[in-house]
Amino acid sequence: MPAEIIDGVAIAAKVRARVAEETAELRKRGVTPGLTAVLVGDDPASGVYVASKERACKEAGMNGKSIRLPASTSEEALLLLIDTLNNDPTVHGILVQMPLPKQISEQKVIRRIAPTKDVDGFHPFNVGKLFTGDADGFAPCTPAGVQVMLEEAGVETAGKDAVIIGRSNIVGKPMAALLIQSGKNANCTVTICHSRTKDLLAHTRRADILIAAIGKPEMVTGDMVKPGAVVIDVGINRVDDPAAPKGYRIVGDVHFEQVSKVASRISPVPGGVGRMTIAMLLANTVRAARLTLEH
Ligand code: GUN
Repeated sequence: MPAEIIDGVAIAAKVRARVAEETAELRKRGVTPGLTAVLVGDDPASGVYVASKERACKEAGMNGKSIRLPASTSEEALLLLIDTLNNDPTVHGILVQMPLPKQISEQKVIRRIAPTKDVDGFHPFNVGKLFTGDADGFAPCTPAGVQVMLEEAGVETAGKDAVIIGRSNIVGKPMAALLIQSGKNANCTVTICHSRTKDLLAHTRRADILIAAIGKPEMVTGDMVKPGAVVIDVGINRVDDPAAPKGYRIVGDVHFEQVSKVASRISPVPGGVGRMTIAMLLANTVRAARLTLEH
């Protein structure tokens, strides 16, 4: 039987509807949640992401602003802009789109953002809170979105073997931190695999929940998956396709055709995790705005 689809579009729409309701309540109390995204340089893919963040904010009734800076921007200028945003009470969430041009230290930028406005969840304070299971911080949006997808799809996680392929700070490591916690939608036994993993197949084949976040088109093939596993595909890769209208198409890290014959449930690309990232960013921003009323 082919795998059931975990529909990221529908789940993200549900999260965004909840965000819109919470935004309306906060606006009644005099606070309009505001997210400012900063984009340095003119990478077209990053430009598309930032524009869609701004649009999603507006649809939810929030203030969404983008600041676009030239690729030649100095580190000091960006740090001073972050100081301004940290001190602006109408800005509740700050997102600096990664990657940054090479003259700017990503670590310095991440550390300069006020942890209470760090809706990306990249600041070491928030990373520490995530690992210690302190729900007071912000979890990075993509892995938080995967956890919501598992919950909404009714996947039982307690006691399950979760195998994550990829050890990035944006997805792999925080994904592991979320799934090892004791509590709802967690309690997994987690393995992180990476480029130096000795026997990748041995790990992936025993995964009850397999999460692919390596950025390699269709790398996870059917033979790597245990029958009945739940497979979540975080990859968004462009591959050349002369037959496609744009000359390329988007595929995930999972070979969908093969794996959907083996897995019990699978998230597709597009239409899977990608939609969740922005939805969770809005959710984090609304929470940041709410916290300003509580402190
Ligand atoms: N670049 C790729 N993913 C992300 C993300 O989630 N946040 C930021 N700031 N940059 C990214």
